[in-house]
Amino acid sequence: MCGIIGYVGQRPATPLLLDGLKRLEYRGYDSSGIALMQDDGINVMKKKGRISALEGMLNGHIADSKATVGIGHTRWATHGVPNDLNAHPHSSMGGDLVLIHNGIIENFSELKEYLSNTGYTFTSDTDTEVLANLILDFYEGDLLKAVVRALHRVAGTYGIVVMHKDHPRSMVVARKGSPLVVGVGEDEYFVASDLAAMVEHTRDVIFLNDNEVGIIEDSGFRHFNLDESPIQRQITHIDFTLEQIEKGGYRHFMLKEIMEQPQTLEDTMRGRLLPDGGIKLGGLNQHLDELANADRILLLACGTSYHAGLVGEYVIEELARIPVEVEYASEFRYRNPLIPPNTVAFAISQSGETIDTLEALREAKSRGALGLGIVNSVGSTIARESVGGVYLHAGPEIGVASTKAFTSQVTVLMMIALLLRQQRMGLDETSQDITDALRRIPDQVSTILKDHSQIVDIAKMFSRASNFLYLGRGTQYPVALEGALKLKEISYIHAEGYPAAEMKHGPIALIDRMMPVVVLAAQSGAESAKIISNTQEVRARDGVVIAVVTEDDHQMDNLANHIIRIPKTLNLLVPLLAVLPMQLLSYYVADLLGLDMDKPRNLAKAVTVE
Ligand code: G6P
Repeated sequence: MCGIIGYVGQRPATPLLLDGLKRLEYRGYDSSGIALMQDDGINVMKKKGRISALEGMLNGHIADSKATVGIGHTRWATHGVPNDLNAHPHSSMGGDLVLIHNGIIENFSELKEYLSNTGYTFTSDTDTEVLANLILDFYEGDLLKAVVRALHRVAGTYGIVVMHKDHPRSMVVARKGSPLVVGVGEDEYFVASDLAAMVEHTRDVIFLNDNEVGIIEDSGFRHFNLDESPIQRQITHIDFTLEQIEKGGYRHFMLKEIMEQPQTLEDTMRGRLLPDGGIKLGGLNQHLDELANADRILLLACGTSYHAGLVGEYVIEELARIPVEVEYASEFRYRNPLIPPNTVAFAISQSGETIDTLEALREAKSRGALGLGIVNSVGSTIARESVGGVYLHAGPEIGVASTKAFTSQVTVLMMIALLLRQQRMGLDETSQDITDALRRIPDQVSTILKDHSQIVDIAKMFSRASNFLYLGRGTQYPVALEGALKLKEISYIHAEGYPAAEMKHGPIALIDRMMPVVVLAAQSGAESAKIISNTQEVRARDGVVIAVVTEDDHQMDNLANHIIRIPKTLNLLVPLLAVLPMQLLSYYVADLLGLDMDKPRNLAKAVTVE
């Protein structure tokens, strides 16, 4: 997501900071900025857009600054649209203290209210500016102490670097839930959110753990727990290449993004699931009445986002009892759609820039629907044109085939379904059970990802197949579609997803011993019995079955040729787990075929043409 770089040393800081920011570009960003410690105070320069925009702005200003202490940041917006004001670094009121921050301060509204009542004013919409002023509020001459005291008041996640003009040769760093590493050079120190930003200058680093804070000075780095007890940590020597670092040690962005999902799902849910089972989605607060009184919900999307919408249809209808229609955005916009009163339309888009989805949203709004967004990329066109909505907070997705965005979209749709239910019927045991089960999902995702050697073996067996069929019922039908889409996108093997019972009406004619059939059978209850019968129909025609079932389910033991077991969850939440073996299977098949799954042929990450 966002990127951090800081420098304390003898060399001019500006070029080092700009180079560091460029090294962080692969993570995605929408604005950037630097702050330099000058003789007359701290000078902050920041700009919306690419690093080159910031560089252009620095020309003739402080580009030739002799400052040897400074910080830089690339922002991937979470609070407030990407613009110059919301870009980092953020200054406290008066500008004496400057801060860069990755993460989300969950209780920023309460803190902002407290600070406003004390006389602080704010110039941006960000949670970070609130933190800058909170630290200043505690500042009595010792910056480290002020940071520690402020962080005791903060709920949420952070990787921060703080400078104060009264301490011109030092900076304070702290971490909780957002990575930070200190680089130790010769008479110089770096701090960064990502090794890539500093690796060309030093490979000797000290990793910060959660709830740790430290101070970088000319004399060295001092490192403490949040209770101020000192920490002694060995320097680690890094010998990865830059490319390996950018991909977090993974060979491809797609695999990195698949493996990130325990964290991205935590980020999507953070602060939104209340202890009593209630749901808080700040971006929908203004529209709760319209949502509760909606007679119809439209979900408009393309590609993987459309499949997430199909899961949304099941969960919203089941939990909120409001009719839902999911439409390919491209079809919707060209077919003179009927929009009755009280229609709420959600545009679902990872990039927020897909032209068909954007035009469908505009069409729905122009015909009287309340136009909302479920978007990953903050400040994107769809986000801006939606009157409200929910961000995924899944971080930039770089692999062309969408993976982590899908699970975050499904999670958001689940939270919307619960919110609608609670608005219409109040809080009940079902809500509580589902929020409890949702909280367990990131750990269950970790369990699946931790040991997936079996999926690699299955990929080896089938990488030469020419066709694949994916079958599922209920919420597993969209997972079948998504599994087939993933495979064809990156391995170029023809694959079809089908509702399991529909197989009899056509695809069954294709089944023979050359046809692998992936059966998504991880639900319990009536659907489970039905999918067993469908599997028998496949086996009776010599089809080779790869079944995905829950860990304690043995009904497929003598039926399927290969069984992938996933942890047990509620039927409505199974897509969040069952899609992981689909993502991994397609990744490994493509890898075995020697294909570049991060950039599959003919596909683009954001499709801005019709
Ligand atoms: C492209 C991408 C897909 C994505 C689809 C919709 O086809 O390759 O991965 O699902 O666009 O993109 P969006 O950004 O609107 O979710």
